[in-house]
Amino acid sequence: MRLLRLTRDVLLHGTAYAVLNDLIHRPEPLEEEKTWQFITGPEPGWRRWLREAWPPQWLRRLVLHRRQYQPAERGIQAHYDVSNEFYQLFLDKKFMFYSCADHIRGDETLEEAQTNKANHLLQLIDPKPGERILELGCGWASMMRHIEQHTGDRDHLEGLTLSREQAAYIQQNFGYKVRLENFVEAEYPPQYYDKVYSIAAWEAIRRHEVDVVMQKVYKTLKPGGRFVLHFFCRWQDRLPSSLSVGQLFFPGHVALSYREHVQAMERAGFRITMQTCHDYRRTLRQWYENLVARKNDALKLVDVRTYNRYVVFFAASYKYFDDRMGVLFRFVLRKPPIS
Ligand SMILES: C[S@@+](CC[C@H](N)C(=O)[O-])C[C@H]1O[C@@H](n2cnc3c(N)ncnc32)[C@H](O)[C@@H]1O
Repeated sequence: MRLLRLTRDVLLHGTAYAVLNDLIHRPEPLEEEKTWQFITGPEPGWRRWLREAWPPQWLRRLVLHRRQYQPAERGIQAHYDVSNEFYQLFLDKKFMFYSCADHIRGDETLEEAQTNKANHLLQLIDPKPGERILELGCGWASMMRHIEQHTGDRDHLEGLTLSREQAAYIQQNFGYKVRLENFVEAEYPPQYYDKVYSIAAWEAIRRHEVDVVMQKVYKTLKPGGRFVLHFFCRWQDRLPSSLSVGQLFFPGHVALSYREHVQAMERAGFRITMQTCHDYRRTLRQWYENLVARKNDALKLVDVRTYNRYVVFFAASYKYFDDRMGVLFRFVLRKPPIS
């Protein structure tokens, strides 16, 4: 059975996918430091060559192409609808952000670094009481709460998520206007919102969706409105092994390249007024440390395979950013005012 899976995985998805999937399927919880070292540590040249050489680009493209037409909610729900309590074990206690934090000094706790990030985004969004503000992919409403604390206005805040567990959590705990709806397919009223923002959700957009959703956001913003984006993308246009590996964690998601994103922003009519790069690695390491420190609690909430999947996910994501295959950006886009 194991040999059959390994062979199928190597042939269709390559060695990196096969090895990581094998780790996830171990019947026992993975050993913390050994797993981290194995995935993120120095890699011999031949191993790197092998993981990028097979499958050839045409086969990788074919397999990923088939996957990315799956309904978006399948990938999201497979990842998020695990258990809110499970996420609480490793995310920061203050906001429950599931997105890259800002380590400015370098020795911040996760809570401090997430506060830095929340404050930076607040400055970029610049929310004012009475403005209509929409979050695409609102998680557990972390940023919505930060905005409300700043403006005192909750009535004009709205969010969309595809995770049932998140929507139920927000309903029970905060009562914001949050809809369980795909933000690519949703219909938005024209020239309605002052600000739209999205944190760590834009990476889920596929190539056939990016222009559609970018144009929808452009149309729903008032003239002069702004769209703040925080997401990661891949640098190169060719398809690296990390895209196949990503299928283990977000089935059907195929991250776009930097060029594809920026061209879609400009095609929609936006002016890019700011972009900054951020380092995801420390956040991923902190989530990893928090999760393995709470291993026993985690295993009361989820099965061994789910636990192993997240251990591998954080380490493999660290490797992805450490190898500079992907980069995390914040963008501020402006819809021009009517002159
Ligand atoms: C990594 S989490 C980030 C959550 C939150 N913004 C934060 O920073 O903690 C990604 C979020 O995007 C949502 N999401 C991704 N694709 C979506 C889509 N097409 N429609 C609606 N929500 C989506 C997920 O449900 C999840 O809430």
